[in-house]
Amino acid sequence: MKHFVSINKTEIEFFSDENFTILEQAELNGHSLKNGCRLGACRVCKLKLLSGDIEYIVGNKIGLTKKELDENYFLPCCAVAKSNIACELDGDNKTLSETKEGAVICDIKRIPGVTILKFKLSKRSKMNFIPGQYIGIEVPNREYRYYSIANIPKNDGYVEIHVAKNKNGVFSDLICEKLEVNDVLWIYGPYGDFISGYHDEVRDIVFVATGTGFAPIKSIIESGLFNERKIYLLWGGRRRVEHYFSEIIDNWKNTLHNFNFHMALSRQNEEEHLESHCGYVQDVFRKEIDLNDDIEVYMCGSPNMINDMSELLKNDYQLHEDYIHVDVFYPNS
Ligand code: FES
Repeated sequence: MKHFVSINKTEIEFFSDENFTILEQAELNGHSLKNGCRLGACRVCKLKLLSGDIEYIVGNKIGLTKKELDENYFLPCCAVAKSNIACELDGDNKTLSETKEGAVICDIKRIPGVTILKFKLSKRSKMNFIPGQYIGIEVPNREYRYYSIANIPKNDGYVEIHVAKNKNGVFSDLICEKLEVNDVLWIYGPYGDFISGYHDEVRDIVFVATGTGFAPIKSIIESGLFNERKIYLLWGGRRRVEHYFSEIIDNWKNTLHNFNFHMALSRQNEEEHLESHCGYVQDVFRKEIDLNDDIEVYMCGSPNMINDMSELLKNDYQLHEDYIHVDVFYPNS
C-alpha cells in the first residue's frame, strides 16, 4: 500500500510503499536526504513528523533522545509510512543537494590507523560551522560519509577531519591510502547540535571519547567554550598506539590549568600500564568522577561505549538527560 509523503518548505513529495523505508522511498524518487548509519542510531536522518503515522521496521532508535521523541522526531531510515504523512527537516537537516560545495585537500597526515585530513573551502564558501558539528563527504557511487570537524571555526576556510582506517572501508581506504594534496572533495553541511545544550551552569565538563571520537572534542576544547570550568577528558582505546593526539594533550596539560586527562587501554602491555588505566573508559569514569559531582558529559565514539556510559550515567550517577550529550560514531564502510 502506498502513502503520500511531503516535506514542508521543500519541493519533496513522493508516494511511499509500506515495503520500503521512507528514506529508501525518497531516494527511489530521486530525492537526496541526509543519512548516515541507516540503522536507526546516528540521528543524521531525523525528521519531525507533523501529521500521519509511521511505524519502525528496523533499527533500535538509540540515536533519538527522549526530548526528540517527545518533539515527534523520527528516523526515516528505519520507518515506513502507515498513512499519508507530512514532515519537516530538522533545523540543520538541509537536503544534500542544497549544501554541496567543493574543497581542495591541502594537508594529509597518515599515522597508523588514522589519517588527519585538512582541506580548504573556496573564498565564497557559505559553510559556517560551530564546534562539535560534522560534515558529509560524497564518495563514489553517490554515497556519503560523515566526519566530525576537528578544528575551530576561523575565517581561513580550513576544515580538519580525522578518519579511522576501517577494514574493507571503501572511503577510509581512499583517504588513508590514495588521496593526495590538491585532490578535490565534495562536501555537505555543516550539521549537528552536539553542544546545543550548552548553558551557563557551572558544572564540571567530562568529555568521554573512543578512537577518533577525539575529533569533535578537540574542536570544542580549542574553542575555549568551557574554559572557566574544570575539564576532564577520558579517552579509551585498545593500545597506546591508537592514542594519536598525544602532542595536543601535552600542550593542553601545559596551558590549561583546569584540564585533566586519563587514558584507558583495554589491551595494554606492562610499559603502558605506567601511564594509563587498564580496562574501559567506563571504569576510569567510575574511578575519577565522584557520584556527587556536578557534571555535564559529552560522549563521542563507538556505540558500545555510548550505550554503556549512558546506562552508567542514568542509573548510577542519576544524571539528567539534559546534561548528557552524545555523538555516536558508526564505522563507515
Ligand atoms: S541514518 Fe537514520 S539514524 Fe543513522
